[in-house]
Amino acid sequence: MKIFLDTADIDQIRKYSFLIDGVTTNPSLIAKTKTEYSFEDLISEISKIVPGPISAEIISLESNQMVEEAQKIAGISQNIVIKVPMTMEGLKATKRLSQMGIKTNVTLIFSANQALLAANCGATYVSVFVGRLDDIGHNGMEVVRDAVDIIARYNYSTQVITASIRHPMHVLSAAKAGSHVATIPPSVIELMSKHNLTDAGLEQFLQDGGKIQS
Ligand code: E4P
Repeated sequence: MKIFLDTADIDQIRKYSFLIDGVTTNPSLIAKTKTEYSFEDLISEISKIVPGPISAEIISLESNQMVEEAQKIAGISQNIVIKVPMTMEGLKATKRLSQMGIKTNVTLIFSANQALLAANCGATYVSVFVGRLDDIGHNGMEVVRDAVDIIARYNYSTQVITASIRHPMHVLSAAKAGSHVATIPPSVIELMSKHNLTDAGLEQFLQDGGKIQS
């Protein structure tokens, strides 16, 4: 499973750049970083740090305007993927962008039917927001599983991104469900790397290593 970093924070992207395959941003993540970069400069900077796909979201709501905005953003760098909201206008834009060879990430997906429509319109990625579904008592991972199954069964080239990840168990479940990608916040990547037994084991090895004559 590919690992994307779910942040617009340049320092965090630099820190984890050695282990990530891509980055996803959204307007809320960018607003949160309080960066001095303009939107275009920030996306350009990120695309230089990570060679893999960098998702940048459009904010227009009408399909012609969406396509126009997407073309501008896609022009920033070769590895830009345009995040398009899961609306009927968004699907229309996705179809046109896919015909133009511009990669898309259809976002705010909360059902397998939405994923199916997006895949049928040529979406490169569909982002299933598991955390937000779990928050309201639904089973987010079930949507990931269904979307993965449908995409495989009908041979779509679309890849499922498990998004809105809240904890390491979401990542593990995404991997077991066959999600092509998990986009993970930096805090969850940290948690994934840690185990008390690793720390205790290392401490012991260091102590014992000090007793060995060189
Ligand atoms: C990524 O593509 C999504 O925008 C992000 O994972 C949403 O996460 P949230 O539900 O924590 O805002």
